[in-house]
Amino acid sequence: MKILLLDHNHPLITEQLLAKGFILEEDFTSSYDEVLQKIDRYDGIIIRSRIPLDKNFLENAKNLKFIARVGAGMENIDLNAAKDLSIELINSPEGNRDSVAEHVVAMLLILMNRLFIASIEVKNGIWKREENRGDELLGKTFGIIGYGNMGKATAKRLSGFGVKVIFHDILPDLGDEFATQVSLETLQKEADILSLHIPLDNSTKYLVDENFISKMNKNFYFVNTARGKNVNTSALVKAIKNGKILGAALDVLEYEKSSFENLDSSLDNEDLQFLLTSEKVIVTPHIAGWTHQSKEKLAQFIVDKIVAKFY
Ligand SMILES: NC(=O)c1ccc[n+]([C@@H]2O[C@H](COP(=O)([O-])OP(=O)(O)OC[C@H]3O[C@@H](n4cnc5c(N)ncnc54)[C@H](O)[C@@H]3O)[C@@H](O)[C@H]2O)c1
Repeated sequence: MKILLLDHNHPLITEQLLAKGFILEEDFTSSYDEVLQKIDRYDGIIIRSRIPLDKNFLENAKNLKFIARVGAGMENIDLNAAKDLSIELINSPEGNRDSVAEHVVAMLLILMNRLFIASIEVKNGIWKREENRGDELLGKTFGIIGYGNMGKATAKRLSGFGVKVIFHDILPDLGDEFATQVSLETLQKEADILSLHIPLDNSTKYLVDENFISKMNKNFYFVNTARGKNVNTSALVKAIKNGKILGAALDVLEYEKSSFENLDSSLDNEDLQFLLTSEKVIVTPHIAGWTHQSKEKLAQFIVDKIVAKFY
């Protein structure tokens, strides 16, 4: 089998697949059009997010048997087209779920205890105690939307913090020892903290908008490590300004490029500037699933799945 690697990943992918006799070719620089010209030569693709694999691309990939995404989210791939063309889809969310879960808890603790502001102040010779009084997680209700790999790992990581964890998911009967499944209405009524763990698709694009926020009963903290476009940013900004959202921890932004490698500078606007300057917001550059450990685990899960299906 001939596999095209389109992104840099942990070297274990190359080492282990070569050892199993797969033929590998690396191309980390060619554009979408350049890859399109030669894609009919390959049986498999291994990618992170460098190139969108749309319908046109997949229809030209005449011999493609699988796409392996070293990561969790699959929104850069036309899933319907892949299904119609019988192209197998492989991802490795087991590899970065613990990283995401720790990142959620880390961001929340930093936000609620004002650690990022207090630290900068002290380093600048400012010693403010009352202004930097924290808010405890203990006793709060933590609401998760989307109880898959990331949602479950987050709930597990929260056990021990003394929070009540509830979640809403479109699939039934997912409750476990770490969290209780509730309707969306109950979640909106009870949650003090809202954390998104849904995929990005037509049904979840801008799920959190002005209408959604207006249905939240309490003022709440908001965490997003899912995808920037799950949230309508102007509604988010408005809610932070009027106090409905007490603080936001954002690892993903609506204004990211689809490769996640940078912000799309053409989308610079007042809302983004607010998020980047507000004391009530912390932002990280799409690194929730990005630890030293997850780099290796993401790669190992991908290799194991390719070998199990195609060796
Ligand atoms: N920031 C990062 O570095 C990072 C890392 C990993 C994953 N992610 C993102 O986290 C998100 C979750 O990933 P995952 O691997 O847990 O996905 P998953 O498919 O395992 O779980 C998603 C869950 O959401 C549920 N769901 C779908 N639509 C819903 C809706 N409208 N309302 C309620 N629930 C709904 C599904 O039934 C499923 O249980 C994805 O967007 C992924 O791209 C981000």
